[in-house]
Amino acid sequence: MARRKKVYEGKAKILYEGPEPGTFVQYFKDDATAYNAEKHAVIEGKGVLNNRLSEFFMTGLGQIGVPTHFIRRLNMREQLIRQVEMIPLEVIVRNFAAGSMAERLGLEEGTQLPRPIIEFSLKDDALGDPMVPEEYIIAFGWATQQDLDDIVALALRVNDYMSGVMHGVGIKLVDFKIEVGRVWDGDYQRLVIADEISPDSCRLWDVQSGARLDKDVFRRDLGDLADAYTEVARRLGVMPSNATHMPKPTLIN
Ligand code: TMP
Repeated sequence: MARRKKVYEGKAKILYEGPEPGTFVQYFKDDATAYNAEKHAVIEGKGVLNNRLSEFFMTGLGQIGVPTHFIRRLNMREQLIRQVEMIPLEVIVRNFAAGSMAERLGLEEGTQLPRPIIEFSLKDDALGDPMVPEEYIIAFGWATQQDLDDIVALALRVNDYMSGVMHGVGIKLVDFKIEVGRVWDGDYQRLVIADEISPDSCRLWDVQSGARLDKDVFRRDLGDLADAYTEVARRLGVMPSNATHMPKPTLIN
């Protein structure tokens, strides 16, 4: 069988040409990176978990009328997605101070914010994805004012949906990142949620214990990342059909 064409390879995913025009196959790798890829590891089972979790969130968003690029999951590691024109921004929504915001403002991690706060970073690995104000985005033409208004509305809907789903399983959605793409219908464009939504791109804290259930486990060496993601999947009832990652046996004294 002819090898399919790779369109793009990122740090955690690969895009292949899809079976029909206007589609891609998105493959989830087991690679984990942090601090702009200064830290790297291969975490067995992570790709399988993120494929399932992103399917779960994107499907749920579709069901409440938030458009996404997701078409269907193909297998353990791959999903069929719509080809979109990516807007070169990371859209970050924060409910509680953590990570770079906590550091920048000297806030204690977990401090509740007065309202959800949205910020933008330019997607540029060489520059380390710098935070950019709306003024830059519009002046440099990365998105229009109308796009930004639509992106903010989408991001807040994703936040309400994700916060509610997570709250239902005892998890606090501290913050998350989404990416947005344009889909063209003739001369008209609409914006859709693209990339992935998974514990790689969210901060998820257990409500009771405050335990981290997201990529901070890897960034900060807090334990086994696949165990944390498996716990999120288990609570949401999204366990992969085949075992991907067996938690390590616990030593009983
Ligand atoms: P930050 O506190 O490091 O700025 O991250 C905020 C949120 O955005 C956190 O949930 C992690 C996510 N994020 C990504 O998914 N990719 C990135 O490149 C960055 C900088 C953050």
